[in-house]
Amino acid sequence: MVFAGAKGRYNGPGFCPFGARLARKSQKNRAPTIYVLNGPNLNLLGAREPEVYGRTSLAQIAKLVAARAKSLGLKADFRQTNSEGQLIDWLQDARERAAGVVLNAAGLTHTSVAVLDACRALEKPLIEVHLSNPYAREGYRRKSFVSQAATGVICGLGADGYLYAMEALARLLEGHAS
Ligand code: DQA
Repeated sequence: MVFAGAKGRYNGPGFCPFGARLARKSQKNRAPTIYVLNGPNLNLLGAREPEVYGRTSLAQIAKLVAARAKSLGLKADFRQTNSEGQLIDWLQDARERAAGVVLNAAGLTHTSVAVLDACRALEKPLIEVHLSNPYAREGYRRKSFVSQAATGVICGLGADGYLYAMEALARLLEGHAS
């Protein structure tokens, strides 16, 4: 394999090991960043209504997502906030800094035109994720503002939904999505 490192071209081990390290580092730095954004109350996952949301904590989900991102050649930037304004600021940051976004806006999914506007402004692939299936729950959860700007929606599959969303983004970014 041939790497192009910061100091130019590297043609294999034995030729310039220092160059190889640089090359690998610069390849890693080039992994597209995916923002994985989580809204209100998701910090309580594992303890909050486990019969609805499961027993996996958000920290555990973050670890699983980081590992899946790595195996897909992506880098996950995993965040949670209880504040609508913070979530919007991160969506705005993602315009410049992310190749795509996985968004579980939690309760804001069903209420926030401002989050929808930030999603519309993103102009990057966006996968909406929910651990539960909101369409099988209370009527007020059956409307999603986020869906109106989402490239795709994954819900009802628990923590695995985040991993499927990373896979979907990897395919979309490779231009393979059918
Ligand atoms: C949720 C579903 C929302 O309706 C709810 O408000 C949440 C979590 C989910 O992941 O299933 O907080 O987004």
